[in-house]
Amino acid sequence: MEQPEMKKLAAERAVQFVEDGMIVGLGTGSTAEFAIRKLGAMVKGGLHIQAIPTSQKSKKLAGEFEIPLIELDDTVEIDVTIDGADEVDSNLNLIKGGGGALTREKIVAYHTKKLIIVVDETKIVKRLGADFPVPVEVTKFAWAATKKTLIDLGCTAELRTIMDEKFITDNGNYIINCDFGPISQPEVLEKDINAIPGVVENGLFINLADLVIVGSRQGLMTLDQQITGSD
Ligand code: 5RP
Repeated sequence: MEQPEMKKLAAERAVQFVEDGMIVGLGTGSTAEFAIRKLGAMVKGGLHIQAIPTSQKSKKLAGEFEIPLIELDDTVEIDVTIDGADEVDSNLNLIKGGGGALTREKIVAYHTKKLIIVVDETKIVKRLGADFPVPVEVTKFAWAATKKTLIDLGCTAELRTIMDEKFITDNGNYIINCDFGPISQPEVLEKDINAIPGVVENGLFINLADLVIVGSRQGLMTLDQQITGSD
């Protein structure tokens, strides 16, 4: 089975957790897109949901499928969010932000009752940071000074570019990719990064995921808080 098929398998399993009347968070990235497309088909078939997208890209896709969208305001509690990840460890902690949507993704995840992460088997790691840098969204103002402070935390850091242009997030900020290597205490690092002035948010998602659905060559696997616990 190829990687896109594994992603689709996981995403379409996750969509089965969505029930009529729910408020649903829509993630960002190629795996989350499979979930949005499936939800779109279900809405066409009569499912009633209201959705909150985590990026302009997901908003556009949801709009194409006529999924009703609402704002995340102070009256809203999100029932379930389906999102992808770049790395997942055995404690269900994550690195996210490969698509640059980490800030909105983390806000939506925080306000969600059940966060379901959908990935293919290549995303499962022993230690976060082994293969994927931690994306950090920073203000444009003084970004180079912020980058220097991030390096002082013990990483190599690179401003994210796309086709030689600086990548700009939906919030109008930059992203600095911070390679810490394997991270021994992700919960400490998440707080340390966010304590730096100029940092808007970082891609370490700690204790937010409730369920991880993994598409693998052998089929579907799930990891949840009960079975993995913390070690
Ligand atoms: C976007 C994300 C994505 O969920 C993450 O990068 C995984 O993407 P994909 O499903 O395309 O592998 O965090 O900001």
